[in-house]
Amino acid sequence: MTSPTLSIVSELAEIVGPANVLTDLDVTAGYVTDWTGHWRGHTEAVVRPGSTAEVSAVLATCHRLGIRIVPQGGNTGLVGGSIPMEGEIVLSTQRLTRIERVDVVDRTLAAGAGVTVAQAQDAARQHGLDLGIDLASRDSATLGGIVSTNAGGIRMIKNGNTRKQLLGIEAVLSDGRVVTRWKELVKDNVGYDLPGLLAGAEGTLAVITRVLLRLIVPAPRTQVALVAVSTVGDALRLVDRLERAGLTLEAAELMTRTGVDLVRRHHDLRAPLAVDSPLLLLVEVSGQRDTQALLLDILEKAGEAVLDAAVEEGPAPKLWRYRESHTESISAESSTPPVKLDISTPLREIEQFLTTLTPGLTEKFPNVRAVCFGHIADGNLHVNLLDVQENERERVTDFVLRHVTRHDGSISAEHGVGRAKAPWLELGRSPQDIDLMKSIRAAIDPAGLLNPHILPSR
Ligand code: FAD
Ligand code: MLT
Ligand code: ZN
Repeated sequence: MTSPTLSIVSELAEIVGPANVLTDLDVTAGYVTDWTGHWRGHTEAVVRPGSTAEVSAVLATCHRLGIRIVPQGGNTGLVGGSIPMEGEIVLSTQRLTRIERVDVVDRTLAAGAGVTVAQAQDAARQHGLDLGIDLASRDSATLGGIVSTNAGGIRMIKNGNTRKQLLGIEAVLSDGRVVTRWKELVKDNVGYDLPGLLAGAEGTLAVITRVLLRLIVPAPRTQVALVAVSTVGDALRLVDRLERAGLTLEAAELMTRTGVDLVRRHHDLRAPLAVDSPLLLLVEVSGQRDTQALLLDILEKAGEAVLDAAVEEGPAPKLWRYRESHTESISAESSTPPVKLDISTPLREIEQFLTTLTPGLTEKFPNVRAVCFGHIADGNLHVNLLDVQENERERVTDFVLRHVTRHDGSISAEHGVGRAKAPWLELGRSPQDIDLMKSIRAAIDPAGLLNPHILPSR
């Protein structure tokens, strides 16, 4: 297979217009490095089609010439899945930004794959509805991207992951064929679940050009509490108590003092609570009219399991800021691109996983700083490792991912596999499972042109 030559560039310019084939290195630079700064690739061309038909023509052309493609949305992915590491062409969905329709009766949103999460949220909120997915990268992450990584995010505990929001899809296969599964029905049970298959496929099966998502009715009012706790167990028991009292969990995020101190330093924020504690739990709840009274009562009755707490009416941006600023503060603080290990374990294992992880890291990698945080009620932690030297990235990743499997966990909870975890795929899936994934891939992209180095290729 060849990398693009000048002829392909002029052929693509015929399809999308010369202004939408980017070849200047200073212009393509932003497309060939990932958000963490670790994955640095190269490309001879970034192509920006403006419709499904143009995506189809671009792919048919590349297919004819045997040229590989990396689909890219907002390039906020954290596993190196959107970067042309072997000189592939980047097919950017940046121009697929039409918000086609918000259907208030059926509560659906039809939009282009390049629409950002924030744009989709705004469109839904104009009708008193909302997207079921929210994440701190909302201003850049696209609908095609969150489908392709099957993103989780901070509202997953209530609404489920992106696959759960997906009702329909339009996508283009590597040979240019367009496949459309578009039924504005929550019950449509005819044949295999094509949208569900493309969700989480990380750009390896098709280029998604349009999505049909279900919308949710947001809680009219919420309460947000930032709670100082000593142990993960105390945090999980408090979350359990809130739910058993009849409150609906809108979000539950765990942070450590290390992470909050780092955010405070980078954003010049005062301590959020009077009491210092090893862990902080941020919960957002909704429920009957007296939600705040019920929440305060539960916090008071929790005794010394709750060392301190601040409660505010939602959306409480000041409290959320301690959590939402973690990712960029960690990147700013680390002397090297952080190793970001997004893992999950059964809730019963999290405490043990965390308390045994840190000493092991300190012993084997004394120069590495660990900041752990995440969507605790999903069993999902983000183990972010700072100051990791290039030559120890693989060893420290191996150490953490094997620690995860010892706690019956998953090596990827919501970010996908990408390049970052490809070498550890067998920790997460059986040989039979991997073989089946390869067969599906060979059937749908027999030429192996779409994101060839992500997930199991041939
Ligand atoms: P990209 O990074 O452009 O691509 C991601 C993958 O999808 C690549 O493999 C790419 O090839 C493929 N792809 C993209 N668009 C298409 C398409 N149209 N068709 C086919 N394949 C496509 N993730 C979470 O799950 N939960 C979080 O809470 C979360 N928080 C984040 C916070 C910050 C500050 C940042 C920087 C990232 C966060 N992420 C989170 C990661 C990231 O935002 C998600 O993975 C998101 O889904 C990526 O969307 P994107 O449009 O940027 O995709
Ligand atoms: C988050 O929840 O903030 C993200 O998944 C990003 C991260 O791991 O940094
Ligand atoms: Zn996350």
